[in-house]
Amino acid sequence: MRFDVVTLFPEMFPGYLSQSILNKSIEAGLIDVRLHDLRDWSKEKHKNVDDRPYGGGPGMVLMVEPVVECVESIRSERPLARTILLTPQGEKLTQRKVESLSDNEDFIFLCGRYEGFDQRVVDILQPEEISIGDFVLNGGEVAAMVLIDTLIRMVPGVLGDENSSIQDSFSSGNRMLEFSQYTRPREYRGFSVPEILLSGNHGKIREWREQESLKRTKERRADLLPSVESSDKDIEPRNKK
Ligand code: ADE
Repeated sequence: MRFDVVTLFPEMFPGYLSQSILNKSIEAGLIDVRLHDLRDWSKEKHKNVDDRPYGGGPGMVLMVEPVVECVESIRSERPLARTILLTPQGEKLTQRKVESLSDNEDFIFLCGRYEGFDQRVVDILQPEEISIGDFVLNGGEVAAMVLIDTLIRMVPGVLGDENSSIQDSFSSGNRMLEFSQYTRPREYRGFSVPEILLSGNHGKIREWREQESLKRTKERRADLLPSVESSDKDIEPRNKK
């Protein structure tokens, strides 16, 4: 899977990209992330890429030319890339959305700053607009990292066990929250590991974990349970091809 990220702040990414799963996937050739500094596409003497909005008002707007020309040059190399603009105005990201996006091999992410992009960026490039939630970030970079983080989990070989993303909470085949996990020590400050987990009885352990998941889901996210009228009724199992 390849990600071309258009940003004013490429230096935000290397720390993130060097974390273990991502770094290993990049080294294994499963993931490729290319950073494009928008300033390199500026036509201004001082490499500006933003200007005051026509009609007045606070803040600065990202100019149309550098963004369009940068994306067009990426598209000439990756003609099938899906272009996504990160904005709080976009469709809200869900695991289902991640799953549907993961059919694509190539992505172009546009990270905005300031008061957003000149509308003609959207008119000309026709990107899909995605929000990672109903809150406002200082820019699209963190949102792009969130998308990369969730998408790479869908790439075969990225997670040690190929099935593990299917078991993730919120994936289409699993609408339950995770059960509680424990490791050593068996007791800490009077809090003990549940006996059942030490029993070696795998059937009983599986049952206990299912109950735990169900209890937690009921308490915290009853909307995920099938008995509740939900807008996710049409979810299909993943990987049915
Ligand atoms: N840019 C600023 N806020 C954002 C959000 N919530 N999601 C995606 N991009 C953003």
